[in-house]
Amino acid sequence: MQTASIFNGIYVVQKKISSGSFGVVLLGQDKERNVDVAIKIEKEENEDVRSLEREVQVLERLQGTDGVPKLLWHGQQDEYNVIILQLLGKDLSHFMKTKKKFSFKTTIQLGIQIVHVLERIHNKGVVHRDLKPENILFGIEDESSKIYVVDFGISKIYRDAQGNILPFRDNASFIGTTRYASIAAHKGHELSRKDDIESLIYVLLYFMKGQLPWQNMQNVSDEERTVKVGEMKMNMDPRELCKDVPIEFAKILEYLKQLQYNSDPNYYFVYHQFEKAAENQGIQLDNIFDWDQQQQMKISQSNNENIDNLQRSNTQQQLQPPQSTEMKKSIEKQGSNLIRQLSNNQFLIPPSQLKRQDSQQPSVVSGSVMLSTYNSIRPKYQASQMAFDIKVCDDNSPQDINQNMKQTAETGNQNGGQNSCAETVCWKDSVFEENFEEIPLAKKYGMLKQKGVEIPKKRKTSQSPIKQRKKN
Ligand SMILES: Nc1ncnc2c1ncn2[C@@H]1O[C@H](COP(=O)(O)OP(=O)(O)O)[C@@H](O)[C@H]1O
Ligand SMILES: [Mg+2]
Repeated sequence: MQTASIFNGIYVVQKKISSGSFGVVLLGQDKERNVDVAIKIEKEENEDVRSLEREVQVLERLQGTDGVPKLLWHGQQDEYNVIILQLLGKDLSHFMKTKKKFSFKTTIQLGIQIVHVLERIHNKGVVHRDLKPENILFGIEDESSKIYVVDFGISKIYRDAQGNILPFRDNASFIGTTRYASIAAHKGHELSRKDDIESLIYVLLYFMKGQLPWQNMQNVSDEERTVKVGEMKMNMDPRELCKDVPIEFAKILEYLKQLQYNSDPNYYFVYHQFEKAAENQGIQLDNIFDWDQQQQMKISQSNNENIDNLQRSNTQQQLQPPQSTEMKKSIEKQGSNLIRQLSNNQFLIPPSQLKRQDSQQPSVVSGSVMLSTYNSIRPKYQASQMAFDIKVCDDNSPQDINQNMKQTAETGNQNGGQNSCAETVCWKDSVFEENFEEIPLAKKYGMLKQKGVEIPKKRKTSQSPIKQRKKN
């Protein structure tokens, strides 16, 4: 066993943020720039899924997209695939755990931001395919009200190098997370942009209602659940599904139902419906969320205490003139604090300046309470049929990914047109959550120490296996 708590010589592991379906996410520090980062490591047993390899390819394409984290480094160490990402704040499942439901206002504000991020991701040729609360995060510091979308492990580039949308297929396996998957996903259709928006609506309904009608199915296998949930989604009238929430949500679902695989979704229609819902409910869209309001209330309470204190001290001042400079200073300090806090309270703070106290804390992904309805199914990864417009070189020979992709596509066709998702791998998120000491990961990575993670040293280290593997 060897301690491997530094990646690429500069990213120092600090503690675990989350164990997800396919890997661990750790908090780290870039010791050269002295900034915090997120470190995502692929689990060895999932290597054939190649989720991280796909994620790197998609993230590279998405770099510079507002609402997508920066990819700071990727490579391999001790035979673990690693990516280093811009550190973000908590994911939305964290807030659902503490709040149980979100207000219309919070939900609509989230909806507007997320649909904009999706639009930008789609414009870069990518469909996410696994939108869910765990994959939607706030930023940190002055971005603590800004939404990011993460986890591109099962995303897909839906346009070829010429910009054409890849052909529709309907023989795919189910992909995504049952609770939020689109109807097309249940039908085994190739997913497209409309499906990300449909999942977004299910996510938002879940926020407002606290649960979805297809949760908590008892005594059914994963396969049966996928079929049954799909049937419920298909048969339920959007107006019935959205009966306790603003009517605009049903209108969006009705609109999405009309779209075809290759339709260009009208994003404006979607976020305009959210805005209309806010207007009809008399909601002011100021980017203050349910949890910020609590924070504001605390500030306001402490302001009141300060006012009392100041009034008391002013009275004392009148009765008893300041005896010393210390006392004067103390009163001045108290006064200026009060001014600062009052101005926070009385004037609307621009959203970007709103900071939650907890926003620096890394989020911990849920141990899934509803284990049975919470599975995320990912395809066994093979190179997809689209052409990448990037070239990757390995140590010895330049490798044209496009060429490699084409070969894979041809092989796929020889196999009777079977798509690359035929084999699925299903992981229940909660398996790794309950007790870190007992999880399989602990055996693999060693126990988390106070300041790092012990990772058993494997044979030799190579520079970039992510790239090397493409040759095979
Ligand atoms: N850049 C990041 N900064 C902070 N936390 C992150 C970051 N990326 C992911 N996380 C946290 O780790 C969890 C798992 O990451 P994710 O990329 O979704 O991996 P998985 O494939 O395991 O679901 C997320 O739900 C989120 O809570
Ligand atoms: Mg995830």
